[in-house]
Amino acid sequence: MKILGEGSLQLVCALVILLHMQSSIGISSTAAGDEVRCIESERQVLLAFKQGLVDEYGRLSSWGSEEERKDCCKWEAVQCSNTTGHIIVLNLTTAHEYGSYPHDLRGNLSPSLFELQHLTYLGLAGIDFNFSHIPESIGSLNKIQHLDLSYCQLSGSLPSQLANLTSLQYLDLSSNNFNNVKNLEWLSYLSSLKHIVLDGSDLGKVNNWPQLINKLPHLAYLSLRGCNLQDVIPKSIPMMNSSTFLTELDLGYNNLTASTFHWLFKFIKSLVSLAFDSTHFQGLIPENLGHMTYLKTLYLSYNQLEGGIPKSFGNLCNLRLLHLSSNHLDGMLPELIGNLSGCLQVSLEELHLAQNKIKGPLPEMIKNFSSLRLLSLSSNQLTGTVPKCIGLLSNLEEIYISFNPLNGTISESHFSTLSKLQSLGMSSSSLSINFSNDWIHPFQLDFIRLGSCKLGPKFPSWLKSQRKFSFLDISASGISDSIPEWFWNLSSRLVHVNLSSNNIYGILPDLSTKFWYSHHPGIDLSTNKLEGPLPVFPVNVTSINLSKNRFSGLISSLCTITGGKLLFLDVSHNQLSGEFPDCITQWTSLEILNLANNHLFGKIPNSIGSLYYLESLALQNNSFSGEIPQSLGNCSALQFLDLNYNNFSGKIPTWIGESLSSLIFLFLRSNNFSGDIPLQLCWLTEIKVLDLSNNNLSGNIPWCIQNLTALAQKESLTIDHFFAVPYISNNNFYPAYYVDKASVMWKGMERDYENGNLENLRIIDLSSNKLTGEIPVQISVLLELVELNLSKNQLTGRIPSNIGQMRQLESLDLSWNQLSGQLPWSISQLNFLSILNLSYNNFSGRIPSGPQIQTFNASSFVGNPALCGLPLTSTCPEDEKSEGKPKDRDIAEFWKWFKPGVELGAAVGFVGVLAVKLDHPWKHLCFLLFNNVKVRLSNLKDCLYLLVATVGLLVREHVSRLGRKLKLFEPSVSF
Ligand SMILES: *[C@@H]1O[C@H](CO)[C@@H](O)[C@H](O)[C@H]1NC(C)=O
Ligand SMILES: *[C@@H]1O[C@H](CO)[C@@H](O)[C@H](O)[C@H]1NC(C)=O
Ligand SMILES: *[C@@H]1O[C@H](CO)[C@@H](O)[C@H](O)[C@H]1NC(C)=O
Repeated sequence: MKILGEGSLQLVCALVILLHMQSSIGISSTAAGDEVRCIESERQVLLAFKQGLVDEYGRLSSWGSEEERKDCCKWEAVQCSNTTGHIIVLNLTTAHEYGSYPHDLRGNLSPSLFELQHLTYLGLAGIDFNFSHIPESIGSLNKIQHLDLSYCQLSGSLPSQLANLTSLQYLDLSSNNFNNVKNLEWLSYLSSLKHIVLDGSDLGKVNNWPQLINKLPHLAYLSLRGCNLQDVIPKSIPMMNSSTFLTELDLGYNNLTASTFHWLFKFIKSLVSLAFDSTHFQGLIPENLGHMTYLKTLYLSYNQLEGGIPKSFGNLCNLRLLHLSSNHLDGMLPELIGNLSGCLQVSLEELHLAQNKIKGPLPEMIKNFSSLRLLSLSSNQLTGTVPKCIGLLSNLEEIYISFNPLNGTISESHFSTLSKLQSLGMSSSSLSINFSNDWIHPFQLDFIRLGSCKLGPKFPSWLKSQRKFSFLDISASGISDSIPEWFWNLSSRLVHVNLSSNNIYGILPDLSTKFWYSHHPGIDLSTNKLEGPLPVFPVNVTSINLSKNRFSGLISSLCTITGGKLLFLDVSHNQLSGEFPDCITQWTSLEILNLANNHLFGKIPNSIGSLYYLESLALQNNSFSGEIPQSLGNCSALQFLDLNYNNFSGKIPTWIGESLSSLIFLFLRSNNFSGDIPLQLCWLTEIKVLDLSNNNLSGNIPWCIQNLTALAQKESLTIDHFFAVPYISNNNFYPAYYVDKASVMWKGMERDYENGNLENLRIIDLSSNKLTGEIPVQISVLLELVELNLSKNQLTGRIPSNIGQMRQLESLDLSWNQLSGQLPWSISQLNFLSILNLSYNNFSGRIPSGPQIQTFNASSFVGNPALCGLPLTSTCPEDEKSEGKPKDRDIAEFWKWFKPGVELGAAVGFVGVLAVKLDHPWKHLCFLLFNNVKVRLSNLKDCLYLLVATVGLLVREHVSRLGRKLKLFEPSVSF
């Protein structure tokens, strides 16, 4: 027996006990000692559940019906009871990061799963159930204590059968698509609940949620983030008769106000964590919040809170995280910090005050916050210098003071003891950074953001001792130097580097190995003086901006980027040559492609159609030729298309209008496009700038131009393209925006629009083509157009008489056409007009007068021999005949205009003209006519016409306008 030893003896005993148990509860056994506890019916339930799922990575490979896999208690994610053999735990929840589940299991949530009635724990988080509803059979899980169905792509409502789960302590149904939740009455039956998460469910119709919460005596954790909760009426909720002791409460991202916030004071002696961010919380921060002395975290960011921080906050002796960013706080920082100086000083670890309107200097007393790890004061109005005592915050890991009008110099004495510092954000703060080159930094930074600080002119060599940064922004920092060789080898963790807007020169080395392997790099070296060939990039690079440098050589060298991660590529304004890169199918994630202002040529390959996500394509100022490939129509996300100044030819494709319905900017200037303007262009209802100038287009301007409705609407959306720049700190992304850049012909001059003000432009430029026919009168419904350029065509006919309603017009160029007739009077109503060019047409008659028109000189009107009156020197014939009798002169002109109009028989259009004519200097004439005071009507026919026209006018105008027009006939009009 000695050989067996003690351990073996125990094993034998265990076996004996197990064998005994087996026979007593009737579990079958296969081979000797290899007991199977699994209950057959439950095994079948699991197998059926597996059957309904796609298991991409074989997570359920241990689940099977084969003999050797028979014991379901040994299956992955399954646990059985030692005593009964029933399945009590099914945990398929995957480990995840920030809610990003791999969804490696997907399929149906079969109702039969809930036949596993003995389950105490069910975790299915992250399985994609493809918008299934929660089956009512869930009510049979009456032993369940823990239920996690978060991130499951479930939808519909929450079934009332949930009321049966009376043992439930933990419930997480967050991040699904429950949009039809009518009530939560079932909650009140679940009195064991301690933990509830319903984030992202639409609870907009549930208006008794506070009462239901009152009924849950054990509830400690409640998260209803983004649930469309509506405000509660505090009076209807009993204040004190609750035994609930909530410790953690998250009501962020709801439609709540201060009244709900005040209801929270019933939990004043229990709350440890409170999130009330991005609600609609306005006004001052409540003073009595300072009495929630158990609080450790307080999130009040993204609200409209005003004023300062109440003094009572100093009493929050447990508070560690205080989030007040993105509010309207406008106190003085010394006062704010002063109010926080109580026992809070010792506990506070994170202070978030970015994006407020806080003024004043950074006060010395900040040094007393000895636990501070994070200080965020970016985007305020802080002034003065950064006090050296900041260096006493020896626990500081992150400091952000970017975007403040601070001044002075930051030297090593500011940071000499900050050995834990990891993130330094001081962009756009006008600070000079002056670290001596031989300073041994006590810290290793991960995130360095010093854009627009003064670092140059030498490349900052203090960086040499930083070996761990992943994010570096030293843009616009006055560096006039080459990039030292050591720079690219400093950090093996480099992910994003921004050296843009300096005067950096030299040739770049091979960059393919300089970035953190397995991350997705972003590189911005734009606006420098770098030269030589494009460097070799890491294959998995995400964003590249090399614009405005002197790079030369073949663009095809970019084809080494094969990782498929490229979102953003801007190599514009260089001297690159070659054809359009033919490897574009490698870049199917691309959202922004800017190759403008280079020496590129050849056709655009058909493969461009594989860029489904493309939002912005800029190829202007190259020598591309041929037709635009039809496959570009696949890029239906395209908002910005600039092909200006190339040699593209053929017709303007109809599919531009049919397929690219998101287009906001279309630039086809200075190419060889010919044929008609396709009617389909009128389908571009989002278009704001349409530039087809300087081509060989012929035919008419389409009448359907009125369908370009974005030109008639005021609202201006910000048009930038969001893309994420990855960086590594907290495994996070740094949001980045690309704003479209364009060189726009504006008021006769080519101007660069780079700073987002493109979105205020609304331009139609069809100049320098061979367009014929009339200007469609419908064009005048484009009320928000600021520039209309139809010059240098062969247009005939008149200027639409109601052009005066395009009140936003700042520039109108109709020169060098064959337009004729009188200038409509309404043109004098264009009060913003600063450019008017009507020269070299066949206009006739008197130039209308008006305050704005009078600011233009003769050059706006020359080349129209029959045009007369100021500012031209040629006097009108009537002036000569009847000088000194202005009224008679006006009347003569009125008839001159009126009679041909009538005789043309264009009654309807004519009445429209009349409507405008009647508006201003002619109104007294009309009055005269109808009162027959001074004017002798030359004959009855004229009078009749006027009557007919007037009646027509009255009938045609809307009632509201009628009222206005009728005023014309009021006898009180004086003249
Ligand atoms: C069941 O048995 C396993 C292994 O023998 C043990 O680890 C576990 O704690 C037991 N569970 C219960 C609920 O007794
Ligand atoms: C269920 O799985 C998740 C993810 O692996 C894990 O975090 C959790 O602790 C598990 N629960 C149980 C009871 O094993
Ligand atoms: C709810 O529980 C009751 C009693 O335990 C039971 O009769 C009923 O079938 C359950 N409902 C569902 C849907 O399982």
